[in-house]
Amino acid sequence: MMSQTLGVLALLLLTLADCQEVGYETKMETETTNYGPVTMVVDNLAEIAVSVSDDTSIQLEEKINRTRQNIAGNIEVLTANAMAELSDVIYETNQLVVSNPDCNPAWSLDELNENVTHQLGGCTEDLGSLLEDFRLESQLALARVQEFVQQIAHLPAKCQLLGASPLNPLASAGGSVCFINAMAEINLGMAQSMHNASLILVQTHQTAEDQVVQAQLCSAMVVQHIGDYLREEQDQCRQS
Ligand SMILES: *[C@@H]1O[C@H](CO)[C@@H](O)[C@H](O)[C@H]1NC(C)=O
Ligand SMILES: *[C@@H]1O[C@H](CO)[C@@H](O)[C@H](O)[C@H]1NC(C)=O
Ligand SMILES: *[C@@H]1O[C@H](CO)[C@@H](O)[C@H](O)[C@H]1NC(C)=O
Repeated sequence: MMSQTLGVLALLLLTLADCQEVGYETKMETETTNYGPVTMVVDNLAEIAVSVSDDTSIQLEEKINRTRQNIAGNIEVLTANAMAELSDVIYETNQLVVSNPDCNPAWSLDELNENVTHQLGGCTEDLGSLLEDFRLESQLALARVQEFVQQIAHLPAKCQLLGASPLNPLASAGGSVCFINAMAEINLGMAQSMHNASLILVQTHQTAEDQVVQAQLCSAMVVQHIGDYLREEQDQCRQS
């Protein structure tokens, strides 16, 4: 995605450099106005560059959103699976206790549910804080990319201000030099901010994968412990 954007932006700069020469010659022969052909080309190119960069930042936002949904989904599924695995033994034990007043369990159903929820919450705690960190970091990274898109959008106005003067025949040529130089700088910043954003995505993916494995082991252990505990309770209840 990044190299594609850079390619397009580089092409825009080349096109502009070409147009600038042509426009410049035309200008020497024809009348000087504030809004000569070069200025229009700059406006058009800025529009195209903004639209390309905007697409890039939307694609980045989609990736960020998918990663967030992915991590949040993993947390939900892990918890729901563990609950589902336990629900049978919890139900059985509860039925047994209810139908047998001599059993005197040291727990209530509510307490047990709370305990299981609490322990499973502990299993997905790391994933939860990874999600929170990612939410903040990716928001900043995206804002940084969008900042550069805004800078491109403001370039025509900025460069016309610098170059525009009815008495100066080189005005719009100056404007496009301003545009080319500024674009080169923005291009670099944009590439860096995209690189930073993809690093955050890649690192978060890797960390999330590791933490999902850990959380699965952890919740399997919770299921095992609670299951064992309840089966013991059932045995005691049957013997009472
Ligand atoms: C990403 O998610 C945010 C918040 O959930 C939403 O407002 C935004 O429209 C989404 N963006 C894309 C490109 O899907
Ligand atoms: C939850 O249950 C475990 C045993 O299954 C027990 O060791 C622990 O003390 C309980 N915790 C709470 C908060 O009830
Ligand atoms: C990219 O990340 C580096 C290191 O975190 C930071 O110094 C730099 O300012 C960032 N660049 C952009 C354009 O966000």
